[in-house]
Amino acid sequence: MANLVEAGLHEGISEVIATTQSRAGVPNAAPVGIHAESGKYCVELYRGSKTLSNVNTTRKMAANVTEDAVLFVRSLFGNLASSDFSRFLGFPVLSGADSWILFRCRLIAERADYLLFLLTPFAVAVRNKKISAINRGLNAVIEAAILASRYDLQDGARDKTRIKMQIHDYARIVDRCGGRSEKEAMQILLQHLV
Ligand SMILES: Cc1cc2nc3c(=O)[nH]c(=O)nc-3n(C[C@H](O)[C@H](O)[C@H](O)COP(=O)(O)O)c2cc1C
Repeated sequence: MANLVEAGLHEGISEVIATTQSRAGVPNAAPVGIHAESGKYCVELYRGSKTLSNVNTTRKMAANVTEDAVLFVRSLFGNLASSDFSRFLGFPVLSGADSWILFRCRLIAERADYLLFLLTPFAVAVRNKKISAINRGLNAVIEAAILASRYDLQDGARDKTRIKMQIHDYARIVDRCGGRSEKEAMQILLQHLV
């Protein structure tokens, strides 16, 4: 099995798109962070998500490594089409990802807001080995997407306004540093904040 660094997962937190499926085999995708420390991999899955419900049912998850900003944002808002998915060893993955890592998930802790799973890889496919320089526009889209995922959870108008202002700061970075994909992703994100 290829090592997971080669597949794009590094020490610290790697932002990926998790694909999972329901008991009936319906696929789902959403961004998550994979925590890596001393060769151990974990994920915190927040209560209420489809990803958590699927992992609780099947105990499996695929990490799709990609730098596609639009794919990140579309998966955050549940806007992927069935044509975005393909299958790797029978499990749903994203056709556009650079690598796929299939994990078995074992529940190791329950917290008020999230469940913590230990991840054990059982299959890896590296599909696109590329070298990328850091792009501040892509990083800004990811930061803004994290804020956007919290936006809907806020009740207070003041908190919503604060998050919006932070997202607009990131939009300025995307405008200056991003490419076409980052700019499109930011547009989708801003449209969501009405
Ligand atoms: C970059 C990024 C990282 C995220 N990391 C996590 C995570 O580690 N765990 C989690 O539960 N949610 C995480 N989220 C939020 C989920 O993606 C979000 O709640 C999503 O709507 C869940 O979708 P689902 O109901 O289809 O699973 C992250 C969001 C972004 C944009």
